[in-house]
Amino acid sequence: MPEDVSDTLKELAEVVYLKGDLDERIAVASALLVGGERIDAGFLAKAPKLGIAARFGVGYDNVDVEACTARKVYATHTPDVLSGAVADHTWALILGFMRRIPEAGAYTRTEWAKRERRLPFGWDMEGKVLGILGLGRIGSEALRRSQGFGVKTIYNDLVEKPGLEEAYGVKRVDLDTLLHESDVLTVHVPLTPLTRGMIGAEELGKMKASAVLVNTSRGPVIDEEALTEALKSGKIRGAALDVFEEEPTPLDNPLLGMDNFVATPHHASATWETRRKMAETAVANIRAYLEGRRPPNLVPEQRDAEF
Ligand code: 8YV
Repeated sequence: MPEDVSDTLKELAEVVYLKGDLDERIAVASALLVGGERIDAGFLAKAPKLGIAARFGVGYDNVDVEACTARKVYATHTPDVLSGAVADHTWALILGFMRRIPEAGAYTRTEWAKRERRLPFGWDMEGKVLGILGLGRIGSEALRRSQGFGVKTIYNDLVEKPGLEEAYGVKRVDLDTLLHESDVLTVHVPLTPLTRGMIGAEELGKMKASAVLVNTSRGPVIDEEALTEALKSGKIRGAALDVFEEEPTPLDNPLLGMDNFVATPHHASATWETRRKMAETAVANIRAYLEGRRPPNLVPEQRDAEF
């Protein structure tokens, strides 16, 4: 959060930065900018004056929207502005794995000049099948970026996307087909009771031995223990994750020690430009509330709610 953006609220309110544990100051807060902390009925009980919980991000699985609505607290998020950055990062992970960039970087620094081990070879994208699980805002930006790599694209989503099918030739398939056919499978679903643990041992068992699994959505969508086992036993070729079941992921997470695993620290939206746009969007939501207007980016479940 660039402070100069949140500081624009200073003419309307006192702006306080709460770092680490939320303290008793939430008792007097009218508006809250929400990072990863859990906002539920218990939290709301400690924040009786709160009128808006504004997520700094698009995902809002840490916000109990029903509890917010019951208390007439607006729940907002920052859709659209980060889709491009997250899709870019998805492709960085795909190519990072396929061309073994982290390993090749270490090789250049420590081994190349010794000529003792051959170059870390990777794999072509041309001719591969790219599977997209969840063809929403971010999934469709990842699809748009696939044009030019010579990949065949398939997707699975609860909703049919005829516009994207026509524009990009992407084909809708059932989950089993997506798992069976993808060479690279990239996950772009929100975390909900339906998607939690959606990719477990059974699903990994249906994937190709040469497949790569990429996740920039939410960690708990993939069962990490099952993934560790699948990477160890060679059930799939590799994985690249930006998100983890627990964040920050513990240093002794066995995945971190594996050669066929690429990791980044939940920073797919972390570019200077995108974080600024996210900040401006979140602040616009808070400003609207403080000025007595309906915030522009209510989460979908609240769009018809009367406040
Ligand atoms: C984080 C994200 O929100 O948009 C999302 O849902 O996961 C990220 O952009 C970001 O880390 C700030 O909380």
